[in-house]
Amino acid sequence: MATASEFKPTIVGFLCNWCCYGGADLAGVSRFQYPPYLRVIRLMCSGRVDLSFIFRTLAKKADGVFIGGCHLNDCHYNPEGNYDALGNTLMAKRILEKIGVNPERLRLEWVSAGEGVRFAEVITSFSAKVKSLGPLGSAEGIPVAELSSRLQMAEELVPYIKLVERERLRVPVRTEEGYKEFFGSERFDRLFDELILDKLVMSRIMGFVRQQPVQANEISGRLDLQPSEVARHLRQLTERGLVKFERGHTLVAAV
Ligand code: FES
Repeated sequence: MATASEFKPTIVGFLCNWCCYGGADLAGVSRFQYPPYLRVIRLMCSGRVDLSFIFRTLAKKADGVFIGGCHLNDCHYNPEGNYDALGNTLMAKRILEKIGVNPERLRLEWVSAGEGVRFAEVITSFSAKVKSLGPLGSAEGIPVAELSSRLQMAEELVPYIKLVERERLRVPVRTEEGYKEFFGSERFDRLFDELILDKLVMSRIMGFVRQQPVQANEISGRLDLQPSEVARHLRQLTERGLVKFERGHTLVAAV
C-alpha cells in the first residue's frame, strides 16, 4: 500500500470557461508551479456542475473534486450560475458526510481569469489537503464495493433532491453568507433529515437487501443507526411493499 508521501491523488477539476479556466491558463503560461494531480474538465459555467457529477466523479475513483468558477456576481450567465454551484457544493458536502465520505474532498473556489497566482495557490492547497486525507475509501475505512454503492445511491437520489430544493429548500438570499447561513441553519438540518436523509437511509437498506437477505438487527450496525430508527424505516419499506420478512427477522426484497 502507498504511504502518505507516495500517495498521488487524482483530483478532477471542473473549471468555468470564462474565469477559472482563464486563471489556470494564466498560471500555465506564467509557469507558476502547482502539484500535478489535477485533471481539468472545462465547462461554460460552474453552475453546469450538476450534483450528480460530484458523486459520479468520486465513484470513478477520483480522490477529490474541485469546482472553480467566477467570483460571485461576475458569472456570465443569468441567473448567476455560480450561486447554483455554491448550493450544489454545500448540499453535496452534507450528503458526503452522511455517507461516510470526508466532505473536504470537495472544494469550491472563485478564481478570475487574471488570478493565475491564486489558481496555483488554491490547487496547491487543495492538493495538499487531499493528499493528507489519503485515498478515497480506504482512508474512510469503507470497502470499495460499499463506497461505490453509497455513491451510486446518492447519485440516484439527485432528481428527487432537485425537486425538494425547488419546493422546500430554496435559499432566500443571493449572497455567499446567506447560503452558508441557510445550509448551516437548524431549519435546513430539520428539512434535510426529514426529506433527504430518510430517503438516503431507505435506499441504503434497499441496497443491502437487493444484494442478499439480511437480518433486521444487522442493519443498525451497518448504518450506525439506533434500532428504533431502523425499525421506523423498515416499517415504511414494508408498508410500501418494497421489502418483506421471511423466517422471522430475515429481510428480503419484495420486488
Ligand atoms: Fe463562470 Fe458562471 S460563467 S461561474
